[in-house]
Amino acid sequence: MTITIAKEKLLTVELNQLDKIALRQQLENARQQVLRKIARNIPKFDGKFPAETCENGHYALTDNVEWTTSFWSGQLWLAWEMTGDDKFRQAAEKHITSFGSRIANRIDTATHDLGFLYTLSCVSAWRLTGNREARGFALLAADALLERFNPQSGIIQAWGDLCDPEQAGRMIIDCNMNLPLLYWATQQTGDARYAEAACTHAHQAAKYIVRPDASTYHTYYMDTVSGAPRFGNTHQGYADDSCWSRGQAWGIYGFLLSYRYTGNKDQVELSRRLAHYFLNRLPEDDVCHWDLALLGTDQARDSSAAAIAVCGLLDLVTALPASDASRACYEEIALRIMASLTANYLAGDEEDCDGLLKHSVYHMASGKGVDQCSSWGDYFYVEALVRLTQSWQPYW
Ligand code: GLY
Repeated sequence: MTITIAKEKLLTVELNQLDKIALRQQLENARQQVLRKIARNIPKFDGKFPAETCENGHYALTDNVEWTTSFWSGQLWLAWEMTGDDKFRQAAEKHITSFGSRIANRIDTATHDLGFLYTLSCVSAWRLTGNREARGFALLAADALLERFNPQSGIIQAWGDLCDPEQAGRMIIDCNMNLPLLYWATQQTGDARYAEAACTHAHQAAKYIVRPDASTYHTYYMDTVSGAPRFGNTHQGYADDSCWSRGQAWGIYGFLLSYRYTGNKDQVELSRRLAHYFLNRLPEDDVCHWDLALLGTDQARDSSAAAIAVCGLLDLVTALPASDASRACYEEIALRIMASLTANYLAGDEEDCDGLLKHSVYHMASGKGVDQCSSWGDYFYVEALVRLTQSWQPYW
């Protein structure tokens, strides 16, 4: 069957009937496989955190720095939810003190990625176990994230010190994933400032980062004095006017996360248009190149972007009414991407590899994490697996 999803022009994807029974078995096997790997990594990581990406199949171990440490915490919480086995919960709970010390001492916190960091380590702990200490640390992180909001331009500065003129007024598409921490903080405290900042940022991102054809800039600069828009460019994509695949995936999922808190259906439609742009540019095996402009080339794939997109598509399915004609198509395509990731990208038990999902790209231009496992690719693959195999309440 060929389906046509109108809007971004839409979708001309061939849907071959998936063998759902075989897929169910494949995903069940994958669950067992990732649980074995996560269990094996607990003593291996030994209280440290995996670096952003593997090198030759192995994660260097780090202190709690950089933007990615919570993806390991998130995997542990997911594993606990999958099994009820206390060894996963205990390992995840050990991270809470570390995240508390990080935010109290402001260690490597000059970043919008506080959302990723504290949602998956501490909001998750609070939601799942009622841990009040974790709640407090996540609220401190929300305060630090709110400090990065510039009211003149209505955006959260992505990177760097707030006094750094190079980074002032720069927002990036990834930030949509950091906004849930702010919405959550308003829910917890009744202080509307957090959610107002998140709503304003999401509005500016929709207006300026998303281009008229539903592709996205990776980064966009605003004037922090006049509040006027300046220009978009890329940091990790192929070109300023191309569409970095992971950014597009962050957008698909991120705008939906805002919708979860705001109820603003425009954000669902925006996510749908971004999804169409993404899905119309998939190669034969349904796993995107690292930039969507590279379709038809032999450039590297970014499996992590594919895993994030699967989570976003599954969230889109739940956000749309049952009467929506395209809903079943999105689910089918999400399953197809997941089947491909599982068959062709998941590291086997026999492989000497710490990571779960092979073949992602962190930053092509600097040669960082090219064709390696990444901690976020691992996390979102497991989140997608959990979404597809059991009922689950998001940490976001
Ligand atoms: N948020 C950084 C990245 O996706 O590489």
